[in-house]
Amino acid sequence: MTTPRVYVIHENPEWFPPFAEAFAAEGVPVEELLLTDGGALGSIDLSADPAPGVYWSRMSASSHTRGNEHSKEYARALLGWLERSGATVVNGSHVLELEVSKVAQHGLLRDAGFDVPRTTAVFGSSALQDAARTFTGGADVPFITKHNQGGKGLGVRRFDTLAEFDAYVDSPEFEAPVDGITLLQELLTAREPFITRAEFVGGEFVYAVRVDTSAGSFELCPADACEVPQVIAGAVCDVPGTAAPGAPAAFSIRDEVTAEHPLVQQLRRFLADQRIQVAGVEFMETTDGRTVVYDVNTNTNYNPAVEAVAPVSGPRAIARFTGALLEQAYAASATTA
Ligand SMILES: Nc1ncnc2c1ncn2[C@@H]1O[C@H](COP(=O)(O)OP(=O)(O)OP(=O)(O)O)[C@@H](O)[C@H]1O
Ligand SMILES: [Mg+2]
Repeated sequence: MTTPRVYVIHENPEWFPPFAEAFAAEGVPVEELLLTDGGALGSIDLSADPAPGVYWSRMSASSHTRGNEHSKEYARALLGWLERSGATVVNGSHVLELEVSKVAQHGLLRDAGFDVPRTTAVFGSSALQDAARTFTGGADVPFITKHNQGGKGLGVRRFDTLAEFDAYVDSPEFEAPVDGITLLQELLTAREPFITRAEFVGGEFVYAVRVDTSAGSFELCPADACEVPQVIAGAVCDVPGTAAPGAPAAFSIRDEVTAEHPLVQQLRRFLADQRIQVAGVEFMETTDGRTVVYDVNTNTNYNPAVEAVAPVSGPRAIARFTGALLEQAYAASATTA
């Protein structure tokens, strides 16, 4: 029997080093299961049992932008098999479905009583221009688009007029969403130029990150590696350490948002109800006094500048949490054997 360990299901090895370090520091055995064509996990024997361990999925909604358009399907197959086999899975198949659908995120958040942005989901591109007319009531009020299967600000663009939107949809600039679903969303205006991402691990609040959006509504993403030509400021860049030299720190700890903050407590209950063990939830405080929750991320790349000063480390919290699950599952079986 292989030694029980924490298996990490993902598709981008570049994001793994901070987690490898954290697991090593916590003394928790870990192994990557890279879900790409040619990656570490090439096949599963459906008649066998999974190797003993705890399986943590950090599949990313933007995997298709790295040439891994089938990784989502591999993960669906793998997570379903693990769950049917009774394996311990952290951020399982229901969380993957949430990660890859902002429609699903919106629905769950709204049902739980959060203020969410008014949104229309448009299927395909033929219906987009008519849907925008219905969405704005035919007037030129600003709105944004984003992809249902998003991540790193995919398809996030602002439009001020219907004519501008029509021209965009008809142009070669139009970015088709990978699942064919484009969201039209009310434009929120932040009271102060930042958004907040509250991080949770194992049901507990870790810290809140303030992401500066003062560069303006539309800026080129400082990370060339993002390959997103135009993103709305505040898109939480996937690529660590790529901020423009001399730029003010885009990410910092938001100290006043603590575990006692009412929104944090409400989010904590929401994540527990939805059985989401690891997540970063984004919200914006608007000029009209709303606190709008608009994004649930389940595979954060913890920002190095924040990690350097944070009282608790995100990756270390994950290593401790999954390590404890491993201990529970296998220390118990070792004593009863
Ligand atoms: N309705 C909105 N009005 C104004 N700005 C918005 C709105 N929705 C999102 N934004 C801005 O765009 C950024 C990216 O949006 P969102 O988080 O929904 O996309 P994403 O693809 O999940 O990006 P990421 O992976 O960076 O979280 C937000 O952090 C925020 O700064
Ligand atoms: Mg976001």
